[in-house]
Amino acid sequence: MKKKLVAGNWKMNGTLEANDALVRAVAAGVKDASCLVAVCVPAPYLAQVQMLKAGTPLELGAQDVSPHAQGAYTGEVSAAMLREFGVRYAIVGHSERRQYHGESDALVAEKAKTALASGITPIVCVGETLAEREAGRTEDVVKRQMAAVIHVNGHCISEIVVAYEPVWAIGTGKTATPEQAQQVHALLRKQLAAATEHAERVHILYGGSMNAANAATLLAQPDIDGGLIGGASLKSADFLQIVAAANAASR
Ligand code: 13P
Repeated sequence: MKKKLVAGNWKMNGTLEANDALVRAVAAGVKDASCLVAVCVPAPYLAQVQMLKAGTPLELGAQDVSPHAQGAYTGEVSAAMLREFGVRYAIVGHSERRQYHGESDALVAEKAKTALASGITPIVCVGETLAEREAGRTEDVVKRQMAAVIHVNGHCISEIVVAYEPVWAIGTGKTATPEQAQQVHALLRKQLAAATEHAERVHILYGGSMNAANAATLLAQPDIDGGLIGGASLKSADFLQIVAAANAASR
C-alpha cells in the first residue's frame, strides 16, 4: 500500500515563537512515522522551519510558487528560491488563491509546471463551491480544474499531488462525508488514469475541516491517500493525531 501523506497548510498564521514550539513538537512526533508528513508554511518562515525540522522526516512545503523563473515580478517567490530552502512541496491553486487572488485554471497549471521543473512537487488543489455542488456541477468543476493541469503537464502528471478541497468544507467545520469525498477522488483518479499509466501512484489528498475525529474514516477510503490540513495543523496535538490515523492507514 502506498504511504499516506499528511500536509499541514498553516495559511497566513504563525510567529517565530509559535512556530518554534509547533515545529519542535511535530518534528518529535513524526520521528517514527510510517506515513509522509509535511508543513506548508508562509514564505518568511521557510528558513526557520527548515532549521527546526533538520534531521527529522518532516518535509517542508510552501503555499504558492511563481509561474516565472526570475525577473521583474515584484512580490513573487520563484521555485528556485524555494528549493534553496529545502522545499519539497508547493501548494498551487488553493481555493483561497483562486477566490481572492483571481487565479485561473491556466495559471494554476503553469505554476504546477514550474514547480515540477524545479524538483518541487506541486499540491494541486481542486474543489467546488457550495453553489456549484447544489447546482449538481461538482463533477464538471473539478474535472475542468484538473484537465487544465493535465493539459499543460502531460506525462509529468504522475509526479503531482492532488488535493480535493470542497470550498464549502474549508474552515467551516463541515466535512465532506467519506462517501462524498471518495466519489470525487475516484473520478479524479479515473481522469488521471486516462493521462498516465501511473495514476495509482498519485497521492489524492482530502482537505476541508479534516480533524483528529474524522481523519481515520476519511483515510480508510480507497482513493483518499492523505489529507491537507488547515486549522488542525496549527495545534501539534491535533495534527499528530491525524498523523497517527495516517500511520495506521499506511500499514
Ligand atoms: P481547514 O482544515 O481549516 O478546513 O482548511 C483546509 C484547507 O484549506 C487546507 O488547505
